[in-house]
Amino acid sequence: MRFDILTLFPDIIKSYINESIIKRAINKGLIEVNVINIRDYTLLKNGQVDDTPYGGGRGMVLMCEPVVRAIEAVKDDDALVYLLTPQGQIFKHELAQNIVDKTKHLILVCGHYEGFDERILNFVDGEISIGDFVLTGGELPALMIMDAIARFIPGVINDESFNNDSFRDGLLDYPEYTKPRDFRGYKVPDVLLNGDHKKIDEYRKQEKLRATMEKRPDLLK
Ligand SMILES: C[S@@+](CC[C@H](N)C(=O)[O-])C[C@H]1O[C@@H](n2cnc3c(N)ncnc32)[C@H](O)[C@@H]1O
Repeated sequence: MRFDILTLFPDIIKSYINESIIKRAINKGLIEVNVINIRDYTLLKNGQVDDTPYGGGRGMVLMCEPVVRAIEAVKDDDALVYLLTPQGQIFKHELAQNIVDKTKHLILVCGHYEGFDERILNFVDGEISIGDFVLTGGELPALMIMDAIARFIPGVINDESFNNDSFRDGLLDYPEYTKPRDFRGYKVPDVLLNGDHKKIDEYRKQEKLRATMEKRPDLLK
């Protein structure tokens, strides 16, 4: 899977992809993450990429030319291109699955300041939001989406972890415990200690249902 992340702040993306599971996935060639500086695609002097809004008002707006030129520089026929905006469809497990099913090349465009010139929407496949709140930039959303989708790529994490993850079968994951057996009087459930894997499987299935009913009953509807 190839990810192209278009941003005005490449170092934010680079610092994240240079650590842990994502770094290993890149080194193993399972995913490719390219960081593209939108500023490299402006035709204006001094690297200008934004300007004041028509009609007046607050802040600066990202201009069409550098953003669209940056998209066109990396886009091919198979690519899906999304703007990160608080107004897009909310990113969920189903959307991640949908993107993985549809493409092997995802382009994510990070906004900043007051956001994008509205006309840029004519050059992309859609907008994605990570929730009903407003961040200062699209870099964290792009990283979250890239990371969540990377987990779907075989080999990035082990299959057993992936198959048991929350949301995978519409339910939350079962609770996990590690050493010690007793932490300040809070004990690990006995069933996990007796080595009976049939019983452990049954217990975990029950726990998935219980956790989902308690924490996210909306998922059961
Ligand atoms: C300050 S925000 C612009 C908000 C815009 N004026 C609005 O209210 O809809 C700057 C940039 O951060 C990113 N951003 C902020 N919140 C986001 C969210 N919930 N999901 C995805 N991207 C977000 C977008 O790329 C956006 O262009």
